[in-house]
Amino acid sequence: MTTPCILMCPPDFYGIEYEINPWMSRSRGSAPDKAKSQWNHLHETLLGLGVHVELMEPRQGLPDLVFTANAGLVFEKRFFSSRFRHGVRARETPYFDDWFARHGFQVEHLPPDVYFEGAGDALFCGTTLFAGYRIRSDVGGHQYLGKILQRLVLPLELVDPRFYHLDTCFCPLAPGEAIYFPDAFDRYGCKVLQSHISRLLPVNQDEAVRFGCNAVVVGKHVIVNTGCDMLAADLRAWGYQPIAVELDEFLKAGGNAKCLTLRLDGEEAAVWDE
Ligand code: ARG
Repeated sequence: MTTPCILMCPPDFYGIEYEINPWMSRSRGSAPDKAKSQWNHLHETLLGLGVHVELMEPRQGLPDLVFTANAGLVFEKRFFSSRFRHGVRARETPYFDDWFARHGFQVEHLPPDVYFEGAGDALFCGTTLFAGYRIRSDVGGHQYLGKILQRLVLPLELVDPRFYHLDTCFCPLAPGEAIYFPDAFDRYGCKVLQSHISRLLPVNQDEAVRFGCNAVVVGKHVIVNTGCDMLAADLRAWGYQPIAVELDEFLKAGGNAKCLTLRLDGEEAAVWDE
């Protein structure tokens, strides 16, 4: 097996400086020291699992740069750069593009008239690209990627503003296996998921709002926020080893374990070659 490879960005300048989702409150803010120690714990946990972690240089004035999942979509050595809906995050794009260009990726952009927020909204399970839309990404961007990559794209409408990115309510575990929070989708979306993924593990509301679905899968290990004990027990019953890492400081920005990482070599669940 090749070494799993993940991109992260240290939280030196992380904070709640604007409000672009229902979790963010400038008046409440976040605790910088606590955020640093929680992020370090996640970083060390990944290193302990044998992951090769690449670190991006943090930048003052870009508090959400820590959420590398939103940089873009990685497909083999191609990097499809995000087109962020909010101007405050669009400022991150030149830094992400520069990092990928310097690390041997071909940097590509989507058409100018579509929003697309990378691995936050586009996740492979098997050969199919599951794609969240409406709140951040546009369906047109996903369709464009499906054509270019010649893969089936299944657009899923996100109906609850708290679960504004697909990776907040859906997590592929392996081809044909995923975690999801059913209430974040409409009935049609739930049907699409149920008919295309043979084993779906539902997360309850209490653990969904702890961002239980925003998990990082490394082999049979699943890193998930603390306070998701039912999910952890269900994962164990499915043959996975859950690892709880408290990431509450990042929940305050509407993020968790998965958002803080971007897999550079393909995910456990992703099948890139057909
Ligand atoms: N504050 C960030 C935003 O609203 C959080 C991004 C979380 N990332 C994710 N992949 N869900 O854009």
